[in-house]
Amino acid sequence: MQVKPPPPIAMLAELTHRCPLSCPYCSNPVEMAKLDSEMDTETWARIFKEAAALGVLQLHLSGGEPASRRDLVALVNAAREAGLYTNLITSAIGLSERRLHELDDVGLDHIQLSLQGTDAAMADKVGGYRGGFDRKMKTVEWIKKIGFPLTLNFVLHRRNAHQLPRALELAQEMGARRIEVATVQFHGWALRNRDALMPTREQAQQVTRQVAEARKNLKGQLVIDYVPADYHDDYPKRCMGGWGTTGLNVAPDGQVLPCHAAQSIPHLTFDRVQDRPLADIWFHGSAFNAYRGTDWMSDPCKTCERKTIDFGGCRCQAMAVIGDAAATDPVCIKSPHHQTLQNQANEHAAKSDAPFIYRTAPGAAREPAE
Ligand code: SF4
Ligand code: FES
Repeated sequence: MQVKPPPPIAMLAELTHRCPLSCPYCSNPVEMAKLDSEMDTETWARIFKEAAALGVLQLHLSGGEPASRRDLVALVNAAREAGLYTNLITSAIGLSERRLHELDDVGLDHIQLSLQGTDAAMADKVGGYRGGFDRKMKTVEWIKKIGFPLTLNFVLHRRNAHQLPRALELAQEMGARRIEVATVQFHGWALRNRDALMPTREQAQQVTRQVAEARKNLKGQLVIDYVPADYHDDYPKRCMGGWGTTGLNVAPDGQVLPCHAAQSIPHLTFDRVQDRPLADIWFHGSAFNAYRGTDWMSDPCKTCERKTIDFGGCRCQAMAVIGDAAATDPVCIKSPHHQTLQNQANEHAAKSDAPFIYRTAPGAAREPAE
């Protein structure tokens, strides 16, 4: 029986898909929203109010690179006026000292900074942006001076997994209170880059050990969130806290998505905030109800004791790997596709010299850094 869901706690606002970086693990869809389809300041401001009225507490301002929006300060101002806690998810490129002060003046609550690598050679290679690491480090100085609470987000994959110990040190040197050690999830551009990015099983196990050790050693100093390499796991993650359960994403053109990769499920249709109130979309939209709860499940999930723990794993991963979004996440040991996925993971991880396929931002294709 379908029970009315609680309101969402968090909303991810993808303000733009434009970005000066071109990371090969980007979770933006391969077909990105174009500049002329981006919503204007007033429309976003209205959505922020609707979100707060619906019960959303936290607003994550993301992209692409949200600093690519000229009206970023006005958007943060509108979100704070709506009463939302505001978190800016950024690579730091496009944030001047003056702009950071303006963001502080309008009440930005928190910054989450992405880290592509722990030195210029790695970070600039992964981000495809020469000089990006040095600019990031400069921006960190301004962030520290202003005193924004800071989280570091280290997207980890086969090429940079050995840099985890240094990433933990950097987080402390930067004064971050938290670090997210997120092994790359294979959606969007990352799915195209499995050969270049897939960690080996040994790397995945070593990272898990290092995270456990660091959590002990840094207790009280640094909070470590960890997303393990799930292709090598036996049970899937509870994606988005369960479909349509805790959060929603709004794409640059106003489509409201249950998760950032939902557009990869071809039979779903997504309502737009321009056409329908946000609360109506959350409670009654067809995409949000497609995989909510457990009614949609078939075996093995339907009769599994873990079905309300992981809700069958990730719908987008089931779609990407086996072409059926209603199937058990193939990461799961009970899935008939589990062994195939593990074999595939090992094959991808063995392609030691696979080149990056860089994402190209709409209207901003350029040469990646060497
Ligand atoms: Fe989770 Fe389904 Fe696997 Fe059970 S069978 S552990 S519910 S993914
Ligand atoms: Fe879409 Fe996991 S990313 S359900």
